[in-house]
Amino acid sequence: MERTLSIVKPDGVSKNLIGEVIKRFEQNGLRVVALKMVKLSKTQAEGFYAVHKDKPFFQSLTDFMSSGPCVVMVLEGKDAISKVREIMGATDPKKAETGTIRRDFAQNIERNIVHGSDSKESASFEISYFFNALEIHERREE
Ligand code: CMP
Repeated sequence: MERTLSIVKPDGVSKNLIGEVIKRFEQNGLRVVALKMVKLSKTQAEGFYAVHKDKPFFQSLTDFMSSGPCVVMVLEGKDAISKVREIMGATDPKKAETGTIRRDFAQNIERNIVHGSDSKESASFEISYFFNALEIHERREE
């Protein structure tokens, strides 16, 4: 079992896609083990995306990510990190496969509806950025 962090970004929330995103994760066998809605400050968005601090899109990305509420969640399942990335599709919606979240709903490479951790190391950092141990729950198999 593996855990990963996903975010329904401010564009996904304002397009009323919270349920749609979670439905796609659940239908692919992932379980939500932690969930909340947060509005990031600019500084909190900068901390979350610190690995991108030297990229040309950093200012715009962190402005966007702090522009409205997000829904953050921890997903658990077999190969959860790669599974979430498959369900989301490529960062740039023009390059995303048919049937992926970003292909179906994203406006552009920045406003791309959803985030998912890209490695075990980033999953661990990103999960602990938003959730403490008491907020992450054991789920029983059905
Ligand atoms: P995400 O998966 O959240 O990881 C970093 C984010 O930066 C990415 O999704 C996009 O929202 C954004 N991003 C990545 N590349 C670019 C780019 N070339 N131009 C603008 N935004 C980008």
